[in-house]
Amino acid sequence: MNRVILITGASSGIGAATARLLAGTWRLALVARRGDRLAEVESAVRDAGGECLVIPADLREPAAPAQVVQAAVRRFGALDALVNNAGVFATAPAAEGGDDLWEEILGLNLLAAVRTVRAAVPHLRASHGGCIVNVSSIVAEHAFPGCAAYTASKCALEGWSRTLREEVRPDRIRVSVVAPGATDTEALRRVMPADPTRLCRAEDVAGAIRFVLEQPVSASVDRLVIAPPAGPL
Ligand SMILES: NC(=O)c1ccc[n+]([C@@H]2O[C@H](COP(=O)([O-])OP(=O)(O)OC[C@H]3O[C@@H](n4cnc5c(N)ncnc54)[C@H](OP(=O)(O)O)[C@@H]3O)[C@@H](O)[C@H]2O)c1
Repeated sequence: MNRVILITGASSGIGAATARLLAGTWRLALVARRGDRLAEVESAVRDAGGECLVIPADLREPAAPAQVVQAAVRRFGALDALVNNAGVFATAPAAEGGDDLWEEILGLNLLAAVRTVRAAVPHLRASHGGCIVNVSSIVAEHAFPGCAAYTASKCALEGWSRTLREEVRPDRIRVSVVAPGATDTEALRRVMPADPTRLCRAEDVAGAIRFVLEQPVSASVDRLVIAPPAGPL
């Protein structure tokens, strides 16, 4: 029987591309707020012969991450992997961004991932070879003016991931960070329109996530950077 994966932020961009790529080889639980967009991804997954549960939810709600994990386990009876991909990208000068911006970005990019992992780890432990993939960004190691809150969220996500990795190692759970560069998705288009030929495609990043997830149990990819050959915007 195919392994079970929960992918957050699966209604568009990198999350949707990952769901499509894994269709038929994993059983998928897909989370995002927009039910209509999740339904489109579900239909593509089913057309590819895959099994899929869609769970519309706002992961910034404190109780939502645990509810989402429970829904996936109730449906499939197990959880083998989690991709914390849901994220928000917004910009403001470092010394000017208001509390609303910081709370929105940290609430989703960091806190929702922490809460989802907290709920998922007991199930990943039972899977004897569980995987967590946290989707970060190259902003964690490069400075881009206007991106302070987003950068802080991804740096925090990576620091937390490093500690988590050591703590769950004895449970045979592997923790990986995938750090994309500029990728042609709704999030990027909304904030900084760019020439798509200079960008990675969502499918490229999905391929990197699949590579990480499908390593044999004897190998762990701790951090993988995938960026457009044209370089940073
Ligand atoms: N595109 C890039 O250049 C780039 C580069 C580096 C890293 N990343 C990271 O890649 C990840 C995916 O982003 P993307 O570029 O694919 O953008 P995207 O197409 O906008 O995808 C973001 C996903 O997160 C979901 N989401 C947003 N707020 C949510 C909430 N409160 N609760 C649940 N789901 C929520 C969105 O769905 P709903 O709106 O339906 O909720 C959507 O499915 C993010 O973590 C982002 O930081 C992107």
